[in-house]
Amino acid sequence: MNILITGCAGFIGFHLCKNLVSKKIKIYGVDNLNNYYSVNLKKIRLSILKKNKNFKFYKLDISQYKKLKKIFKNNKIDIVVNLAAQAGVRYSLINPRDYIQSNIVGFFNILELSKEYNIKKILYASSSSVYGDKKKYPVSENEKINPKNVYSLSKKNNEEIASVYNKQFGVPSIGLRFFTVYGEWGRPDMLMIKYMLAKLRKKTFVLNNKGNHFRDFTYIQDVIKILVKLLRTKNAKEHKILNICSNNPLKVSKILNKINLLYGRPKIKYQKKLSIEVLKTHGSNLKLKKYINFNNFTKIDDGLLNLTIWAKKYLKKIK
Ligand SMILES: NC(=O)c1ccc[n+]([C@@H]2O[C@H](COP(=O)([O-])OP(=O)(O)OC[C@H]3O[C@@H](n4cnc5c(N)ncnc54)[C@H](O)[C@@H]3O)[C@@H](O)[C@H]2O)c1
Repeated sequence: MNILITGCAGFIGFHLCKNLVSKKIKIYGVDNLNNYYSVNLKKIRLSILKKNKNFKFYKLDISQYKKLKKIFKNNKIDIVVNLAAQAGVRYSLINPRDYIQSNIVGFFNILELSKEYNIKKILYASSSSVYGDKKKYPVSENEKINPKNVYSLSKKNNEEIASVYNKQFGVPSIGLRFFTVYGEWGRPDMLMIKYMLAKLRKKTFVLNNKGNHFRDFTYIQDVIKILVKLLRTKNAKEHKILNICSNNPLKVSKILNKINLLYGRPKIKYQKKLSIEVLKTHGSNLKLKKYINFNNFTKIDDGLLNLTIWAKKYLKKIK
């Protein structure tokens, strides 16, 4: 089985590639190594992957159709996992163009080429943020979606175009609504690593809404086990949407208190809630659990312990 994984130098892509190459699966990894956050961190992740001969890297932007096509043409690819995207809600206020280019144009290219080269299955990243603010939790996949920013809108668009490509051309795909993934080698623009980096670099951490928002934190190794199971399931013919979440919303302030004990506390500056951010994410994972028979979610204390052990060793290496 040959798999093309886009966003392979990113947080989730790195872990997925690392897991699969260790199982001797051939991986073609694509990433443009953009500078949205530390390029050095992306290069360190990549250097780990490149040690395995089953991993082949292409530095490439998925919005460049002709270059992307060459990869499909020159390699026998069975499955595509599209994790490349301009991520982050707040940055979409500053630079919406990147979201249209990478997330919409780039994903369209992935679908077009998957159609042309008869790809058996596409897994692609959507996001919990497509739901927007809700009155009732946990949210299930058939709940109405209501994006609040350009990032979430680009993910909604991905789901819609994937559904149309399935109905019109039979391209099979699964949209993954990830809920706040955390863990080792994580993203420095996201809560936990950002908080620990502030402590390490003696900087002030800006905390919105006094940490009174809730996130359905989902541990990276659980996400990888789920993705591996999804890759192994019989190739479905339809388009499917799945929440990828632990179904366990936790208050941000509670998480930070736990990190204070395990890693240390930076100086904190308080700021009011940002209007583009949702107050709470809490997904139902019933559909996921039923589909792949997965029930074993990591407890937050165990996930945080692993993360902080990693951080004590590696955070200082990230420039
Ligand atoms: N981490 C989370 O909690 C979370 C939550 C919801 C959704 N997601 C989605 O899951 C996917 C992976 O997230 P992540 O946390 O690993 O993010 P990430 O930013 O660490 O990884 C994305 C990678 O894609 C690359 N990339 C961006 N645009 C590209 C382009 N046009 N061409 C080629 N490469 C490009 C980046 O350089 C980066 O290495 C993203 O689509 C993200 O929106 C993540």
